[in-house]
Amino acid sequence: MRSLIDIVDFSVEEIQQLLDTACDISENPAKYVDACRGKKLATLFFEPSTRTRLSFEAAMYELGGNVLGFSQASSSSASKGESMADTAKMLSCYVDIMAIRHPKEGAPYVAATNASIPVINAGDGGHCHPTQTLADLLTIYRENGRLDNLTIGCCGDLKYGRTVHSLLAAFARYANIKVILISPEELKLPKYVKYEVLEKYGMEYVETTSLEEAMPQLDVLYMTRIQQERFDNFDEYERLKDSYILTPEKMAAGKPTMRVLHPLPRVNEISVKVDEDPRAAYFRQALNAKYMRMALILKLLKEAEEGKQMETLQTVEDPRLICDNPRCISSTEQELPHKFKLVDPERGIYRCIYCESKKTLN
Ligand code: CP
Repeated sequence: MRSLIDIVDFSVEEIQQLLDTACDISENPAKYVDACRGKKLATLFFEPSTRTRLSFEAAMYELGGNVLGFSQASSSSASKGESMADTAKMLSCYVDIMAIRHPKEGAPYVAATNASIPVINAGDGGHCHPTQTLADLLTIYRENGRLDNLTIGCCGDLKYGRTVHSLLAAFARYANIKVILISPEELKLPKYVKYEVLEKYGMEYVETTSLEEAMPQLDVLYMTRIQQERFDNFDEYERLKDSYILTPEKMAAGKPTMRVLHPLPRVNEISVKVDEDPRAAYFRQALNAKYMRMALILKLLKEAEEGKQMETLQTVEDPRLICDNPRCISSTEQELPHKFKLVDPERGIYRCIYCESKKTLN
């Protein structure tokens, strides 16, 4: 069944169709009030969420459908040791589509390969958050009027920030995008995203620790939270948590047409005083997320009716290829085979199909 696990599962043309549908939904909501009558969405949230879970639920209700699910792992049978694969098979008996947030990277992919209904990745650990990216793209499209010829500053936790990784993967396919990566040394963008996204697609990028220096160049400033839950070392989090705080004084150096996005939740990285600035687009972004999730539910349910399938991945199983990422779903899921995809035949580089951790065989 066709699912959304990673933003690159959708072509640029498909993303444009979703943007057009989301815009139409926002302008003509009455057209869609019965679009999912009789359909059910399950929201399986093994990690906390406000926006993603509730906007998915609001989206389904506004399409005339129904919703069931849970908001914490402790209220599901995962707490008794049930696997992701079995959970996905169970849910396929009860609902028409499911959205999953999970702390383990690759968990939604495991669900998608075991379900007979569409699965949506609503955030898997530090890996991907493709529906946030769809909301980000819609916001930039509506606010800046285009998705090409942009200078985008990504600021904060670029190491664990799954929203930034997904956003860069999406923008790799648009023309003339310049990226300014603003982070402390310790939270720089992982090398694999730099090499396999930015460099592979010829995107211009610079790295800096200075938000002030980057500010005047930006069309979009994408702020992110320093995520306490991704740190193994609390002292390190304490040392880095206030690295960037956006204030009205810093906003003064930005272009009048610049827009500030943030996937939210924020802690203190954007002063509440910035909310009054018309360039602050993050609450409009949260509203766009609902329209985008409505468009996505419609698309995946239609494709399920048409019998459209996920693309089959070419995978390799080799006893020397074992994923050792403790955040990968393969570290906990029962009897899950370690599978890899060959991403660089010349250098013998493989990536785990669940979490994309790197292994080499040379
Ligand atoms: N942006 C986002 O994913 O927010 P939640 O964690 O509240 O869902």
